[in-house]
Amino acid sequence: RRKVTTHRLTEMKQRGEKIAMLTAYDYSMAKLIDEAGMDVILVGDSASNVMAGNITTLPITLDQMIYHAKSVVKGVSRALVVVDLPFGSYQGNSKEALASAVRIMKESHAEAVKMEGGSEIRESIERVLCAGIPVMGHLGLTPQSINKFGTYAVRAKEEAEANKLIEDAKMLEEIGCFALVLEKIPAALASRVAQEVSIPVIGIGAGGGTDGQVLVMHDMLGINKGFSPRFLRRYADLSTVINDAVACYIDDVKTGDFPNSSEQY
Ligand code: KIV
Ligand code: NA
Repeated sequence: RRKVTTHRLTEMKQRGEKIAMLTAYDYSMAKLIDEAGMDVILVGDSASNVMAGNITTLPITLDQMIYHAKSVVKGVSRALVVVDLPFGSYQGNSKEALASAVRIMKESHAEAVKMEGGSEIRESIERVLCAGIPVMGHLGLTPQSINKFGTYAVRAKEEAEANKLIEDAKMLEEIGCFALVLEKIPAALASRVAQEVSIPVIGIGAGGGTDGQVLVMHDMLGINKGFSPRFLRRYADLSTVINDAVACYIDDVKTGDFPNSSEQY
């Protein structure tokens, strides 16, 4: 169980070995996911949705991301742990971006950060990279910009946006990002980017031509059933499993079946 490093992800791309990435937000789930053999665990700001119940990723704070990241890192021994820089902690000011990334690295002991955006945040990304902090880029549907987009629909269907995305991907490679997430863009465009850059490209809703895939844990385990975009494959129906188990427990308590004579002191 050799530790996954950013360097090893590059080797995986070169060998044509697909990279598996999944989100986690807490110690217990991170431990299970790591033991199953995940390559990369993302402490996503999707914690804002699935952990805190917010509609968007915007409200989550740097302190809250660090809390989740610390918990995840304690559960992981093999996977590379990447942490999202949350909305408002890096975009407009490269000094603030560096300070935010340094706090994540120092306080959580994670190994890399992820930042949403291309040319608009180049200076911030470069400053973080200069400190020796590995940065994963994120282009396409970038949920921290939902108020600009106005919709979670597929991005970069038009040529102008597709061309900017390709330019941004090449720029992120050139300045030294170790990998790149492409979210909800046409499969052909994602494939093209994966072929044109040497860094690993991890897709979500971006087709099978990327170097790896990422999903939100709660979506793929079927914990939140309300979310069913086309790109999501459900590997379990945990909402039913949990609902049935909890209903049985309630029933056993109400009927006096639990605890029985062997379940007491
Ligand atoms: O926050 C998140 O879960 C993400 C992935 C969907 C890439 O950024
Ligand atoms: Na995110």
